[in-house]
Amino acid sequence: MRGYLVAIFLSAVFLYYVLHCILWGTNVYWMPPVEMKRRNKIQLCSSKPAFASLLRFHQFHPFLCAADFKKLASLYGSDKFDLPYGIRTSAEYFRLALSKLQSCDLFDDFDNVPCKRCVVVGNGGVLKNKTLGERIDSYDVIIRMNNGPVLGHEEEVGRRTTFRLFYPESVFSDPKHNDPNTTAILTAFKPHDLKWLWELLTGGKINTNGFWKKPALNLIYKPYQIRILDPFIIRTAAYELLNFPKVFPKNQKPKHPTTGIIAITLAFHICHEHLAGFRYNFSDLQSPLHYYGNATMSLMNKNAYHNVTAEQLFLKDIIEKNFVINLTQD
Ligand SMILES: *[C@@H]1O[C@H](CO)[C@@H](O)[C@H](O)[C@H]1NC(C)=O
Ligand SMILES: *[C@@H]1O[C@H](CO)[C@@H](O)[C@H](O)[C@H]1NC(C)=O
Ligand SMILES: *[C@@H]1O[C@H](CO)[C@@H](O)[C@H](O)[C@H]1NC(C)=O
Ligand SMILES: *[C@@H]1O[C@H](CO)[C@@H](O)[C@H](O)[C@H]1NC(C)=O
Ligand SMILES: *[C@@H]1O[C@H](CO)[C@@H](O)[C@H](O)[C@H]1NC(C)=O
Ligand SMILES: *[C@@H]1O[C@H](CO)[C@@H](O)[C@H](O)[C@H]1NC(C)=O
Repeated sequence: MRGYLVAIFLSAVFLYYVLHCILWGTNVYWMPPVEMKRRNKIQLCSSKPAFASLLRFHQFHPFLCAADFKKLASLYGSDKFDLPYGIRTSAEYFRLALSKLQSCDLFDDFDNVPCKRCVVVGNGGVLKNKTLGERIDSYDVIIRMNNGPVLGHEEEVGRRTTFRLFYPESVFSDPKHNDPNTTAILTAFKPHDLKWLWELLTGGKINTNGFWKKPALNLIYKPYQIRILDPFIIRTAAYELLNFPKVFPKNQKPKHPTTGIIAITLAFHICHEHLAGFRYNFSDLQSPLHYYGNATMSLMNKNAYHNVTAEQLFLKDIIEKNFVINLTQD
């Protein structure tokens, strides 16, 4: 009798294990060492913002973790899309890059604000000569993107940076721009981007082929600061918020969301009160494109990889619905 029970128990354990592996698609014979995983210490906010209605999963963890990114990709369907919208055909590059990171946490241990007020600071020329710095710094979470500098522009855009989205062609290479309190988030558009991160973190030689323009050859951020954005966020931006088609005609370049819209989508997933942001002034092609440097709007207008019209319509819509306030208005 006892022998039977033990046998039944053992086969139950075995079955459970096999089912578990099948369900989560893990390899039965080899389990990778689990080092970096999500800590469940996120402060939960009980209020649900109005913009949560735009999303399928509001408090979605936006950063990939080495321990479970494949499992979550099959759960959320990211294994059915290629970069930048999923991990299909690039899972190995994701795994390599993630293996060199030290954390996938959203906020650090000192974080004690459950409901976050956020501001997404665009790089647009509308910020030029405005003195919004102090107002921007008063938000709990400040999201910036690419190489929009804080140094030398504190009065216009503030000093603090919680998150900064980047990709290899747009990241700072001068270490003076690194703020140790910033979490730098790689938005991967192509397998090269993940390979580039892995090469930089292992001290290997950087292969600069296959980039839109020359990528940075050094990384100013330390491994503890770096995260990889879940492609689910970029997919939500493209297909759910901007309503991009899944296939484009052969004679057209496929359109992808700009980093600005990706930043807003990220904010929608981690913020709880209104978002503040900025937008480009398209009525004047000679007006400055950025609050820094000398580029003008006409440069953006020529961009074949983005659909600026769709993005402007989306911004107009979320401002009208009061999901986002326009800080440059007053
Ligand atoms: C910003 O201010 C400077 C100096 O006051 C001025 O020369 C420049 O034209 C202004 N730029 C814009 C875009 O208003
Ligand atoms: C980083 O954060 C710590 C703790 O909040 C603060 O004391 C320090 O001044 C910050 N450093 C920078 C460069 O902002
Ligand atoms: C946008 O451009 C128009 C046309 O040049 C100008 O009248 C307007 O003041 C600009 N708005 C901002 C916020 O710069
Ligand atoms: C922008 O133009 C000004 C004046 O023409 C020049 O002094 C400055 O170096 C330029 N800045 C950049 C980043 O090219
Ligand atoms: C851009 O988006 C607008 C609005 O959704 C759409 O009407 C237009 O066809 C799109 N253009 C391209 C080139 O995809
Ligand atoms: C935000 O305000 C500025 C200044 O009034 C304006 O140029 C811009 O178009 C506004 N943005 C939107 C999306 O309404």
